[in-house]
Amino acid sequence: IRVGVVFGGRSSEHEVSLASARNVMDALRQAGYTVVPIGITREGRWLTGGDPLALLSEQAASPNGHSHSDSSLVPGRWALLPRERQGEPLPTVDVIFPVLHGPYGEDGTIQGLLEMANLPYVGCGVLASAVAMDKDVAKRLFAAAGLCQTPSRVLHRRAWRARSDALVAEVEASLGYPLFVKPANLGSSVGVSKARDRAELEAAIELACAYDAKVLVEAAVPNAREIEVSVLGNHEPMASVPGEIIPGHEFYDYEAKYLDDSSQLLIPAPLTPEQVAHVQELALRAFRAVEASGLARVDFLLDDASGTFYLNEINTMPGFTRISMYPKLWEASGIPYPELVDRLVQLALE
Ligand code: DAL
Ligand code: MG
Repeated sequence: IRVGVVFGGRSSEHEVSLASARNVMDALRQAGYTVVPIGITREGRWLTGGDPLALLSEQAASPNGHSHSDSSLVPGRWALLPRERQGEPLPTVDVIFPVLHGPYGEDGTIQGLLEMANLPYVGCGVLASAVAMDKDVAKRLFAAAGLCQTPSRVLHRRAWRARSDALVAEVEASLGYPLFVKPANLGSSVGVSKARDRAELEAAIELACAYDAKVLVEAAVPNAREIEVSVLGNHEPMASVPGEIIPGHEFYDYEAKYLDDSSQLLIPAPLTPEQVAHVQELALRAFRAVEASGLARVDFLLDDASGTFYLNEINTMPGFTRISMYPKLWEASGIPYPELVDRLVQLALE
């Protein structure tokens, strides 16, 4: 079976995708699959043939790797699609593993393209990918499913630019401090900040608005514990043992996630058997609420004082890096990494 692994892409999580894809491709080869790497540059150009992962990694590591421009790539060393190789067929594959995080990949866009091409793919379909990517829309579905979430509100960039004073006053009155401010459609905590006062709140909203036209402001749960559950399956999804993150920073931000090793993962999370069963049940409910399939990682905030698990978010293409929670939780639940990717491919072909 030939598995096309798609990585990189136009989102701010481009580099995380490269790290995820490296591991996924190794594991697929270990599981006996033929891997066809397919890279996407930050500008959306598709690279096949040769070693697109090496090319994109080189570019990411270069000083202008963050310039969101792929003009530094040397033409001729790889094949470009669709422009440069129009008319040439894409490499033949039986199934696609889209290891893309964030917009333009985790959000239903590539899923739609693959549906149109009649190619099976790993993970959630168009609908689940799209609604799970938008934290605001996902929250409404979770609320309808009776899942507990922290109080929050949505700000639109246009409205923010027009009347920020009034909106800040409304947020303060309805949510208080501290707050988390997030772009509605991103992952890996890109553009996320914690705000403890008005100045920080204004700066946080400005930052989030640089990434997205829609921004979420959420009340923080004091002393929250970060608990995550991996889900695997289509019609009868299973939940893994829960894991816990002890962030090395004030919260589990981009740097704590990928750039330093200050954070600690506790697997399994130190929870009572009742709490484990409860949070697993909540994770499956969240999975069904967005009509997910294949896989997802569901993230919670646990308020130890009240014992409440607040649903934080669902990730339909969770990180697969060496240090990522999704595969580690399955390992601890008895499914080693190569078997996990094997199961994901088999679920795609079901
Ligand atoms: N958005 C990152 C990849 C995660 O959820 O793991
Ligand atoms: Mg996320």
